[in-house]
Amino acid sequence: MTIANMKELIRNAVLGKKAVGAFNVGNMEMIIAAIKAAEDLNCPIIMQIAEKRLSHSPLELMGPMMVAAAKNAKVEIAVHFDHGTDIHKIKQALELGFTSAMFDGSHFPMQENIDRTKEVIHLASRYGAAVEGEIGIVGGSEGGNTEHAVSYTKPEDAVSFAAETGLDALAIAIGNAHGNYPVAPDLRFDILQETSMQIDTPLVLHGGTGLTASDFKKAISLGIRKVNIATSCYDSLTRSALGYFEHNQQPNYFGLNEAMIEGFYHKVKEHILIFNE
Ligand code: 13P
Repeated sequence: MTIANMKELIRNAVLGKKAVGAFNVGNMEMIIAAIKAAEDLNCPIIMQIAEKRLSHSPLELMGPMMVAAAKNAKVEIAVHFDHGTDIHKIKQALELGFTSAMFDGSHFPMQENIDRTKEVIHLASRYGAAVEGEIGIVGGSEGGNTEHAVSYTKPEDAVSFAAETGLDALAIAIGNAHGNYPVAPDLRFDILQETSMQIDTPLVLHGGTGLTASDFKKAISLGIRKVNIATSCYDSLTRSALGYFEHNQQPNYFGLNEAMIEGFYHKVKEHILIFNE
């Protein structure tokens, strides 16, 4: 199988009225687990790494592993750079063979976000890569910041952002946040509906951890075509590793490796099933 492009996977999701799962990875065990889940369910996924994670998981090591794993997979796997803020890092990912990147300019004023996103689109076009942007601010951060300040997307801003940039996918903020929610979020499905009625650009939901199956289904029915999941898979890996230590008197790396893969695999599979019902 050749490595896939997020744009194609999202196009198929649009046709099937489903969403593509985009799973953040940080080590080899997570990569193996995500691909195994996709292969076992015969369902394409996006495998991604966030810029904020690179201090733990260097791009020059993770990137080649992610790309090689995608190329060797039995199903289509797209390799995506998540929450890019530094154009040099985005370029490095594209050089390594990533097929798409997100530019997160959500903290900039609207016009600056548009201009910087266009610059990334121009760069990505040289690699045949797709680009995701963000408008409105998803709470928390991919780096583990637990602050959950959210700035809801204004549908009219999404319309002009999409028209001016012509980007491939757009992340919107409807009360969603990265990391575990301190209290159940009150998702503004009205904003999602109003936005998706006005633009054709596929919409992305970040902060998938802690949302319920019915939240996902409703979001997908209203136009979400890519869902990002990180923390719940990391937590599942950690719980599985803890269980391994609890139940083994003489733990070793190989058993730990299998426990980590099992924990991550289980959560990825659970989400792929929900997104494709
Ligand atoms: P969670 O950690 O809340 O699942 O969010 C993941 C995400 O949106 C990555 O961009």
